[in-house]
Amino acid sequence: MGIDKPDLLIFSGNAHPQLAAEICSYLRIASGKATVGRFPDGEIDLKIENDVRGVDVYVVQPTCPPVNDNLMELLLMIDCLKRASADRITAVIPYFGYARKDRKDEGRVPISAKMVANLIAQTGIDRVLTVDLHATQIQGFFDIPVDHLFASPLIGDHFRKMSIPDLVVVSSDVGGIKMARAYAKRLNGELAIVDKRRAGPAETEVMNLIGQVEGKNVLIIDDLISTAGTICDAAGAVKKHGAKSIYIAATHPVMCGPAWKRLAEAPVKKLVVTNTIPVELPERFAVPVEVLSIAPLLGEAIRRIHLNLSVSALFT
Ligand code: R5P
Repeated sequence: MGIDKPDLLIFSGNAHPQLAAEICSYLRIASGKATVGRFPDGEIDLKIENDVRGVDVYVVQPTCPPVNDNLMELLLMIDCLKRASADRITAVIPYFGYARKDRKDEGRVPISAKMVANLIAQTGIDRVLTVDLHATQIQGFFDIPVDHLFASPLIGDHFRKMSIPDLVVVSSDVGGIKMARAYAKRLNGELAIVDKRRAGPAETEVMNLIGQVEGKNVLIIDDLISTAGTICDAAGAVKKHGAKSIYIAATHPVMCGPAWKRLAEAPVKKLVVTNTIPVELPERFAVPVEVLSIAPLLGEAIRRIHLNLSVSALFT
């Protein structure tokens, strides 16, 4: 009938339009058009400008700060696309917020990650595409397919090209051992672990260092940097134990409160993060920072999902 209409469209809320644009550029498609504003009372006012009937649509929206606003935008965008008869809707959540409360580890606390997964799933989406969930089992909080990508090939390749000799990969806490082991394997390095205790939401305390770092070059790995307490304490601990030089890498640069100040004062040679979350470096920041784009990985995953090709090749 000669109707010229795209069969794949990518939309973005206000969380990270730059990343959505980079993904569109990887896929060589025009961005979907949506107006996502606010009513005078602060409620979200939105309109999808493209005809999406029968289209395979993707909403790119990390639930990073302002977390609740970004989450609500995501929910309303999906509702809007659903009611506009999109064929298939994928929530692309490069950073899944609220993930750290993933179990009831004391009395009278919520399991926020499960609650947020329920909220997202209730909108009627078909699948989720995400990167480095704080705990991989959060995939199971959704009863729909979740494509869970890892940033380790991207960050690992960056460090592999640097050919750092005598490398020890350090997990900044016990929960991150699996991730650090994957990096150590990729980089042919040794593994060490910092045993941390959390003294409060913004305070951590290092208890022990398991492994040898004396005279070694160290790469400290974490899934996210929030107040940077964890990673900077780990840097201090490996320094105290005689590390020669210290690199830091994390997938999600949440960077809130004292994060930049702590990093500037830490004994760190280089910081590497990805752009799952928009990053704004402070002016004249003393530590060299490299922001690697996650867009090609997400773009390739979207291409494969759209064409019903295997995504698992990207998981390794
Ligand atoms: C903890 O389990 C996470 O992997 C991070 O280490 C932690 O959430 C980072 O928080 P912060 O930067 O505030 O120490």
